[in-house]
Amino acid sequence: MEKKDITIGLFGFGCVGQGLYDVLNHSQGLRANIERICVKDKNKPRSIAAGFFTYDKEDILTHKDLNVIVELIDNADEAFAIVKQAMNNGVSVVTANKKMLAENFRELYDLQIKNSVALIYEGSAGGSIPIIRNLEEYYDNELLSSVRGILNGTCNYILTRMELENKDYSDVLKDAQVNGFAESDPWLDVAGFDTKFKTLLLTIHAFGIVLNPEDIFNTGIQNITYDDILYAKQRGLRIKMLAVSYKVGDKFRVYAIPHFVDKSSELFNVNYEYNAVEVEGAYSCKQTFVGKGAGSHPTGSAVLSDISALTYDYKYGYKKLKKQIGISGKIEEGKSLIEYDFPIKLYIRYQDREQLNELEIISVEEEYKSSGTNYIIATVNFKSLFNIYDKRGNKLFICAI
Ligand code: HSE
Repeated sequence: MEKKDITIGLFGFGCVGQGLYDVLNHSQGLRANIERICVKDKNKPRSIAAGFFTYDKEDILTHKDLNVIVELIDNADEAFAIVKQAMNNGVSVVTANKKMLAENFRELYDLQIKNSVALIYEGSAGGSIPIIRNLEEYYDNELLSSVRGILNGTCNYILTRMELENKDYSDVLKDAQVNGFAESDPWLDVAGFDTKFKTLLLTIHAFGIVLNPEDIFNTGIQNITYDDILYAKQRGLRIKMLAVSYKVGDKFRVYAIPHFVDKSSELFNVNYEYNAVEVEGAYSCKQTFVGKGAGSHPTGSAVLSDISALTYDYKYGYKKLKKQIGISGKIEEGKSLIEYDFPIKLYIRYQDREQLNELEIISVEEEYKSSGTNYIIATVNFKSLFNIYDKRGNKLFICAI
């Protein structure tokens, strides 16, 4: 097939935008160039000529010579408006905005069909790891049973440096921000929202199930202390923030929760901003993809790969999703395929025992209290975790065992 030339209108010139600019300039054989870049801040010093920039999104959205829009801004609502307008104008879009994709997936799917345009987003999950296109294409006929792994570079970076370098949580979070790993609002990283959005996207491409963000429970490392790291260390374990999406019978369990992992796990030695995704299939068995999950150049390279895919008119086929959709043509409520009522064994560190009252505790295996730290090891009904969902005030640290 004759590859076509790509003329790009870029939204955003932050960490990933600049990474893309660099990797595109060093790529060989790709007939793509960035024509204009829309940014917000007129006063920010830029590393490239002022002539590239515009501050008016319409300059790009109404530009006749652009055939691809690359959206790399961090505000999910503004990103959605841009992407929608571009697709309605018949232009294909590359984005890495997992929050925007997760919050608006149904509408974005319909816009792809209605306008016969591509919306591709390899950079939105796993950074440099080519996971979405692999789930979509390579495993298109494989009966997958599980996709799980480390999908947030910031959490993994914090956990690694706390454990291996005895560093303080807030200092390493700052370093994660300086290195361009964290979101502008790092709460999205540390509280597990970013992992949850990525889990939602992988669940679509692995199993054809579309969930809403609020259907998926998430908690993160926002309340972790060195006591938790020490608890793991003394038992030969490590704490990893995991995305989990797997099949049990004809239902699926999907969540984003820190886990203890032991040496036998391939995730044990995945450190710093690296991500890892374990894919299990009936015939392929377990395969693990590892790579840098955050940062300017790794994510820029995933975006570049999407741009390259557009030179041969690539689109996601959504093969598994189309099987679920069937003849109705409408995306079903994925939530009905999710199991919520099951026991899960957790380590829960708390300050005030009352905070556990909202959980349906089935049994307690161990309880430890001291002047410094209190924890229980308990089996809890998973669905009751939603009772303590997203409460910035709760000081619980929850880790699956
Ligand atoms: N904040 C994200 C992370 C960036 O830390 O993984 C990459 O999606």
